[in-house]
Amino acid sequence: MTVHEIKHPLALEKLAILRDKKTGSDIFSKNLEELSLILFLEATKNLTTKKLKVETPFKEIEGDFIKKEILLVPILRAGIGMIPLIRKFYPKTHVGMIGLKRDEHILKPITYYVNLPKNLENYSVFILDPMLATGGSIIKTLEILAGYNVKPDAVISIISAPEGIKSVMESVKNIDIFTVAVDEKLNENGYIVPGLGDAGDRFFNTEE
Ligand code: PRP
Ligand code: URA
Repeated sequence: MTVHEIKHPLALEKLAILRDKKTGSDIFSKNLEELSLILFLEATKNLTTKKLKVETPFKEIEGDFIKKEILLVPILRAGIGMIPLIRKFYPKTHVGMIGLKRDEHILKPITYYVNLPKNLENYSVFILDPMLATGGSIIKTLEILAGYNVKPDAVISIISAPEGIKSVMESVKNIDIFTVAVDEKLNENGYIVPGLGDAGDRFFNTEE
């Protein structure tokens, strides 16, 4: 497994804005969407292309086009926040969804929704979740996809905790994780520290 920490200065500034507790839901959403696109561009860097004929105003050439369709798999809720700008940038993406909710006491994810396209093997698959905390949600998603014989190309997560990375590493081999920051630790409630708080609540403006 490889953890790719994308330390682009613009990404780091956007992350600092996300972390700031004074950042309201509107600016939080904007920066989360933008960071997601930056990570997506990194995660898709090595996708295979195929040559297709293109006629420029002057001559015919062979242009490069993505060979395999791309499937984004956001983990609900917060993963939804990662979708809009990626799809604006590359509208041909397909989206499958996995709904998980961590039980607050045992911090294990409960699956409440799975909606994936048929023939998953035909896609390059990217899992989207802004927070990789205990790693339970990513491990559960990888298990669900493994049930369809699919190994995703990468996990895209804005902030990761070392504990979660270790757990994912112990349960799956050869998975790439693209993240902006690997933070210090998890607190006793399973939140990432320093982190940004509850990503779903901040994106969807449901904070109390
Ligand atoms: C949060 C977050 C991740 C998960 C990460 O979701 O969006 O999906 O926790 O934690 P883990 O690595 O310990 O599994 P949450 O369960 O709070 O659901 P929500 O997005 O619907 O608020
Ligand atoms: N989920 C979040 O939204 N934030 C965390 O810090 C951990 C899990």
